[in-house]
Amino acid sequence: MAYENIIFQIDGEVAVIKFNRPKALNAINTDVVKELQGVLDEVEANPAIRVVVLTGEGDKAFVAGADIAQMVKLDPLQLRDFSLALHEVGFRMEALPVPFIACVNGFALGGGTEIAMACDFIYASENAKFGQPEINLGIIPGFGGTQRLPRLVGKGMAKELCMTGVIISAQEAKEIGLVNRVFPADKLWEETMKTARLIASKGRFSVMAVKRCIDRGFNMDLRSACAMESDQFGLCMASPDGREGMTAFLEKRKPEFKGELS
Ligand code: CAA
Repeated sequence: MAYENIIFQIDGEVAVIKFNRPKALNAINTDVVKELQGVLDEVEANPAIRVVVLTGEGDKAFVAGADIAQMVKLDPLQLRDFSLALHEVGFRMEALPVPFIACVNGFALGGGTEIAMACDFIYASENAKFGQPEINLGIIPGFGGTQRLPRLVGKGMAKELCMTGVIISAQEAKEIGLVNRVFPADKLWEETMKTARLIASKGRFSVMAVKRCIDRGFNMDLRSACAMESDQFGLCMASPDGREGMTAFLEKRKPEFKGELS
């Protein structure tokens, strides 16, 4: 599939999805959603991809939200479909076995904060800005802001951000637990790729099991979630990487993970 609004590149074992509408601060419209679906098909079909990084083209924005110029022309049912389609993108990112890292290099507002939250974790530059400013437009978040945000930062903080629409700095976003790490702008890419490659060097099955256990377990009761962890813990031993990791430790050598599932 050819992409016009996204740049999709593969750098070794790391795939990079770059939002590419810099003139509109990478705002997400219905074409971007279709292209995201195509990119996720490619990620799913390519077992050589071990980690996916999302970022924005240009030095100003990651994603400044859903495209207001397009949204204003949609009727309520079309807007609902747009929101549902965006949610499906987020659910698909969560369901795929590979981790997604949001590399937030500027404004991540509305749908921008929301797509970053659908990633497994967020790295940001010192000049990045986060927020759910939909309330200023007389609407509410439509891509998980009222749902993923409270799960990440707690209900009170999520309500404050969604009700006031205030924009917060990367440092504030780190303090409330939205962002994992903040770097100077000129170091963000290097640091993100360093972490992406570190994760890519681990066993494929164990990385997938961590993602599954944390995402699925988060919404389960503790006993059921721990039982799921025990299953995944046992299953890791069934993968060649599980045997290799422990054998390598006992033989006092570095493990050579092959990423094969059986
Ligand atoms: N949709 C469409 N176009 C956008 C946009 C958006 N979300 N954000 C910025 N743009 C466009 C601007 O219209 C402008 O285009 P023109 O040059 O053609 O006029 C261009 O990008 C540059 O933007 P600004 O001139 O406004 O740049 P700035 O530096 O003065 O301000 C900003 C930057 C604070 C991010 C400001 O652009 C802004 O407030 N953008 C809107 C942010 C927002 O409200 N996001 C939420 C959208 S709703 C949503 O996301 C719903 C959901 O949950 C799914």
